[in-house]
Amino acid sequence: MPTNEERKLDHLALCLNESNRGNGAGLDHLCLPYDALFEMQPDRLDTTSKIAGIAVKFPLMFGAMTGGIPQAAEFNTALRKLAQTHGLAMCLGSIRVCLENDSLHETYGTGEVEALFANLGASEIKRYKVEYVAENCKRLGCAGLFIHLNGLQEYVQDEGNHAFCCNYEDLQRFVEAFPMPVLIKEVGSGIGGGCANRLGMLPIAGIETSSRGGTSWIKIEAMRRQVPISGSNITALDQIGYSLESSIHCCRAALGDRTLIASGGIRHALDLVKALSLGADLVAIAQPLYRAYHNHQTAGIESLVQEWIDIGRLIWRSTGCPNLASLRMCLTTPA
Ligand SMILES: Cc1cc2nc3c(=O)[nH]c(=O)nc-3n(C[C@H](O)[C@H](O)[C@H](O)COP(=O)(O)O)c2cc1C
Repeated sequence: MPTNEERKLDHLALCLNESNRGNGAGLDHLCLPYDALFEMQPDRLDTTSKIAGIAVKFPLMFGAMTGGIPQAAEFNTALRKLAQTHGLAMCLGSIRVCLENDSLHETYGTGEVEALFANLGASEIKRYKVEYVAENCKRLGCAGLFIHLNGLQEYVQDEGNHAFCCNYEDLQRFVEAFPMPVLIKEVGSGIGGGCANRLGMLPIAGIETSSRGGTSWIKIEAMRRQVPISGSNITALDQIGYSLESSIHCCRAALGDRTLIASGGIRHALDLVKALSLGADLVAIAQPLYRAYHNHQTAGIESLVQEWIDIGRLIWRSTGCPNLASLRMCLTTPA
């Protein structure tokens, strides 16, 4: 069996492989209004949003990626610095390994970020005491925790939990007892109506959709398997789940005004503004950040983030909508 470190390095390498990148968020058919007069002054645009009650200056979030391996420390530190500089939110990769090994905390990077969150799989929550997870979140400088749901990935991954089954009562007990905000996320198949409604009944602070069309964890794990699954069945598994648009609608209906983060295949600033206009509070990206870092290290993610903010602001301003509340109305109100 590969070690944790080998698995995490595989994930980093394989998410760059073209065939695992997904077809994108599928928002091309949506048409935002366009104000040819560009009447809104740049300084009148209010791009602020909130995640679990914490204010962010721009609704771009760094999605959960990595930690627990020496190679992650510099990347996470660079992301933390960027998030703090621009007032953005960030989620660390799964903290499971640092719950097992105290010396691995530093691989999650250093530097204060107001809207920083930890991450843990739903299959792990019963293994650890709530207080112990919370204590580790605090040590990492986090304000809350994302719990990820990844049943299909667990099955395809050789060393995964093939009988993954999230016990709702366990999840409820954990969320109710956890002393910080908890958000729930998928990792690439999205969250639909029934599941969103069940999650919405829990005292969670929000949901990250992570829908079909983004980095494919089915394909990544299929490439790592010793015993192959046929290409046609991998394609079939990869088609399961929800598009970003339908996931946003279902989750927003279930969450009311709690935080909704859209992710999965967001590849440019127009996707970002469209996902916000559909009802997301924030939009998360993962693979584009790691690709930029892989190609040009810290300078790569610095220029990527600056460009997404600049072009995102331009597109947002071109709609004539001065803030998130008004952007949310723009697809339903005739121009
Ligand atoms: C290298 C890499 C590692 C990831 N590790 C985690 C993880 O530890 N926990 C998690 O919930 N999601 C993880 N994800 C999933 C992302 O947070 C995100 O949900 C998904 O990749 C879709 O976003 P994308 O299409 O922008 O990559 C990882 C993604 C990447 C690219």
